[in-house]
Amino acid sequence: MNAIIKKENGIVFTPEWVVNFMVDELLNNQEIKGDETILDAGCGEGVFATIAAQKFSKLTGKKIKNVIEENIYFTDISEEYVEKTKQNLQKLSNSKITKFNAITDDFCFHDFNKKFSFIIGNPPYVRIQNLNGRKEKLQKSYISASSGSVDLYFCFFEQALKLLNNNGKIAFITPNSHFYSAAGKNLRDLLLPHLIKIINFDHFQVFKDVTAYTAISFLQKEETDNFLYAGNFKNDFNNIKYKKISALNMRPHRWEFFDEKYLDNIVALNKKYSTLNEIAEIHYGIATLKDNIYIFSPKKKDKEFYYFNNFKIEKDLCVPIIKASTYKGEAQNLFLIFPYKYEKIIPKNIFQKNYPKAYEYFLYHQDTLAMRDKGGGKNYEEFYAFGRNQGLKTSFGKKIITSTMNLKPHFYVVEDEEMSFYAGYCIKPKNNTDIYELCEVLNSNLMEKYINSVSKSYRGGYKSYAKSFLKDFVHPQFYKSQPVLF
Ligand SMILES: C[S@@+](CC[C@H](N)C(=O)[O-])C[C@H]1O[C@@H](n2cnc3c(N)ncnc32)[C@H](O)[C@@H]1O
Repeated sequence: MNAIIKKENGIVFTPEWVVNFMVDELLNNQEIKGDETILDAGCGEGVFATIAAQKFSKLTGKKIKNVIEENIYFTDISEEYVEKTKQNLQKLSNSKITKFNAITDDFCFHDFNKKFSFIIGNPPYVRIQNLNGRKEKLQKSYISASSGSVDLYFCFFEQALKLLNNNGKIAFITPNSHFYSAAGKNLRDLLLPHLIKIINFDHFQVFKDVTAYTAISFLQKEETDNFLYAGNFKNDFNNIKYKKISALNMRPHRWEFFDEKYLDNIVALNKKYSTLNEIAEIHYGIATLKDNIYIFSPKKKDKEFYYFNNFKIEKDLCVPIIKASTYKGEAQNLFLIFPYKYEKIIPKNIFQKNYPKAYEYFLYHQDTLAMRDKGGGKNYEEFYAFGRNQGLKTSFGKKIITSTMNLKPHFYVVEDEEMSFYAGYCIKPKNNTDIYELCEVLNSNLMEKYINSVSKSYRGGYKSYAKSFLKDFVHPQFYKSQPVLF
């Protein structure tokens, strides 16, 4: 199978230990009569179908051949995989299987003409923009895919919910990005009333060879008001610590998995105190989209120029800058070439005349600069403009800065008003809030706890400190209104 098909069909195989757990959870917690139907959606080589067949046969005492012929269904868009699944199922049985319930078709558009008791699998993870030719059809047919940067696995969830019979259940392992993403909104609305359980692997990597932040979701056709949630899960199945979460407490714009106790705390804080967003401004840093051209560490300098890589740049055109993602409070000796005046790009004729050396430098890199934004760099106002206009004003001035990802809260006050920053966020207190007191609060245990419970996880234990999370942080020092001082 070639690499393009592999990518377009989101082909990644699930390890058996995960499949064993998912099938056990589905089948063991309920009365099994023997006539249930189990559908492996996007079967690949059939790891879900084979494990389900074995476990179902054990539970019911039915012969494996009969289970495969009567209870197990499987579907894949690829003929090759459907055949492979047939072979793998046949290997389980000594006698010849005479009938497979195999469907070689697109799961999202096949007319199944029947409902299922259990739907299991690891749906393909494919960004909709990579689905040549199928994008519009999916967007039209699936509410979960109708807006934004959605993924094929969204449609698998939606289709699976439609295909369940009244007592039916789903177990899917998928990326967890729809818990938080803007594009996941419609899918979240669809799933929430049916959720039974989520086991979130967070940054733990389940698959060999691919980086994917995943979770197992269990759903049922019947509506529910609450579900169980386990976060930061690795592989210690005997020791899963669930929180009970009420669906009522889930906010539609992002799922935060607060247990009820923590939520009571936050609600109480929220009533009394302001959010960070109310007492401070939060801004992105500079985004050039080609930092190694705009940002440099000078080898030497004189009155007029900075020198680096055999180039010299007019000092007047440069500002000191901090890389927030690596900043630990110490000087970094970094400078940004800043071709702007009053937040407007300096026009070419003036730039060339006043800063001939910098102009020469940018000309040398013109082709690389044009490649920014996938070639859209060619259409920038001037070819030496930054990739984004953010932070042209707000990155300067007294501020607190932080990286977009941290192991623990790392916020630093930057006093130098001329200093800009990139690769992070800055926080600037409004009113008369003291910047050092605010910084202390941002570095508090409460912030760490808050981020741990609401934010996204990345490899190595890193947590997202994105603005979308930071803005709702509440602390008892954020008074609703400033205390009267006389
Ligand atoms: C992530 S892999 C999982 C394979 C297997 N279930 C496992 O867990 O090892 C996704 C599978 O879905 C199949 N697939 C991709 N798009 C599909 C579609 N629209 N309909 C049905 N199957 C599809 C791929 O061929 C691939 O086998």
